[in-house]
Amino acid sequence: MMKPLNVSDYRDLARRRLPRGMFEYIDRGTEDEVLLRDVRAALDAVKLNQHVLNDVSQPDMAVTLFGKRLAVPLIVAPTAVAGLVWHDGEVQVARAARRAGIPFCVATQSMTAMEAIAERADGADLWFQLYVFEDRTLTGELLRRARALGIETLVLTADTPRSPKKEWNTRNGFGIPIKPTLVGVLDVLTHPRWLAGVLLRAMLTSGLPTYAHYPPEYRTSITREAVANNVKLARRLTWEDVAEIRRIWDGNLVVKGVLTRADAQAALAHGADGIVVSCHGARNADYAPATIDVLPLIADAVAGRMTVLADSGVRRGSDVVKYKAAGAEAVLLGRATLYGAAAAGEAGASDVLAILREEIDHCLAFSGQGRFADIPRELIWRAEQGR
Ligand SMILES: Cc1cc2nc3c(=O)[nH]c(=O)nc-3n(C[C@H](O)[C@H](O)[C@H](O)COP(=O)(O)O)c2cc1C
Repeated sequence: MMKPLNVSDYRDLARRRLPRGMFEYIDRGTEDEVLLRDVRAALDAVKLNQHVLNDVSQPDMAVTLFGKRLAVPLIVAPTAVAGLVWHDGEVQVARAARRAGIPFCVATQSMTAMEAIAERADGADLWFQLYVFEDRTLTGELLRRARALGIETLVLTADTPRSPKKEWNTRNGFGIPIKPTLVGVLDVLTHPRWLAGVLLRAMLTSGLPTYAHYPPEYRTSITREAVANNVKLARRLTWEDVAEIRRIWDGNLVVKGVLTRADAQAALAHGADGIVVSCHGARNADYAPATIDVLPLIADAVAGRMTVLADSGVRRGSDVVKYKAAGAEAVLLGRATLYGAAAAGEAGASDVLAILREEIDHCLAFSGQGRFADIPRELIWRAEQGR
């Protein structure tokens, strides 16, 4: 294959390399995938005004979030399986983020513990994503570990009260912890590069990949059943939990998965410093609205009083510019960097970030914008404005 030129090329490479069950786990949506289609269609429907003859010789892409400078307005989103797409995937992607000058958000369900990522991607700006467990003492422990490492930004995922209905995952036998099913075994055997490069390598070094932040008892198959309930994601998670986390977490607190103005205001009222306006990459509720459609109203309600971030569906640099024009200060990338890492580890994730950087530069230039941070809402074209 020719050198990949865009995120979609990396997606094709990822599809070939990964076992089908895993690729679909990453790539697909949920239920009937209505939202997956909507997210793309809604981003494509946004048009940007073309302003000419401004000085765009060197657009400035940097943004400042929570007092820290990001070289580009991107953050690597928390994703549960980064560690399975490539040997040592989380460390590889964290290094790519470091090289790009952007934060990497470690997931609660990471295959590599936050301490190991911090050590092996030394100097990376790490955030930590929290899924609250049924057993709240385990959650408190994770927060203490994150703080001890000097992690400053906590992303509380608020939009996953149930495990979403991903029917093909059930059919194709993919799940974590990895369990040997007939379909799953055949799938893996027909992807020898992944089998040798990821699974066997992991088994030879650290054992069968599993959730590294879960208590050790959970990670051994003998005792797993006994502790499984403690590490189920909390079925009852409310604003009281946000208030409680706010009390114990003295860093930046970001609530992820906000899609209404009322919830954004509630996050502010409960002491959050930021929100991620997100439809979870169309992976949770198939009947939710696309992020870009709700973002302007939400940003109008809280911008200036808290940091507004957004995600879902970013495949081009212009998608990032559209999210900014709709009210987000920076954007999280989920699948894009995973495709890159699945194709070529750190180098692939780095290349995806470089491609997006170049596309953002182009988009800023074509729309006559010298500074990403100054992009106004009016950059979005509206027919009635007659521009
Ligand atoms: C494979 C995969 C695993 C994910 N795991 C998590 C997770 O553990 N916690 C979380 O808050 N979001 C998780 N997400 C959602 C991402 O953080 C992000 O919201 C979403 O992927 C953005 O959409 P995009 O993939 O189109 O960029 C996951 C996404 C993917 C693709």
